[in-house]
Amino acid sequence: MPGRPSASRRSVLRGAAATPLAGLGLTACSVPGAGGSVAATPTAPVELGADSEVAKGSAKLYRDHDVVVGRDAHGTLKAYSTVCTHAGCPIDRLQGTTLICPCHGSEFDALTGKVVRAPATEPLNALPVRTANGKIVAGPGA
Ligand code: FES
Repeated sequence: MPGRPSASRRSVLRGAAATPLAGLGLTACSVPGAGGSVAATPTAPVELGADSEVAKGSAKLYRDHDVVVGRDAHGTLKAYSTVCTHAGCPIDRLQGTTLICPCHGSEFDALTGKVVRAPATEPLNALPVRTANGKIVAGPGA
């Protein structure tokens, strides 16, 4: 929605001049409903990579598609949107099988989608996932 860029810019500049250090600790996180761009999650099946890339008990983060794919101990693939359920930031870090949100530090289990560290309280959104011709395909309708 078009805003009043000159007015808000003046406000920002005035605020910045009055408190020059106030904004330095803020993150560039996108918040749904705040007018910024929100990370997207697949709305159709997307081909992610080779099935062999995800070993049992491991996970792989596909940043370009905001999807993580994990394979449990039984060999079953799981896929989740990596749009953080706290305030919509795209999660960009996978340490082992733990996803870490850059905005406020929420952590999720990439094999189950569950929250393992607040402030998020809701699990990641699960996505359908399958393999086709040796490739992992995830997203609605997969
Ligand atoms: Fe706040 Fe992810 S958006 S922890």
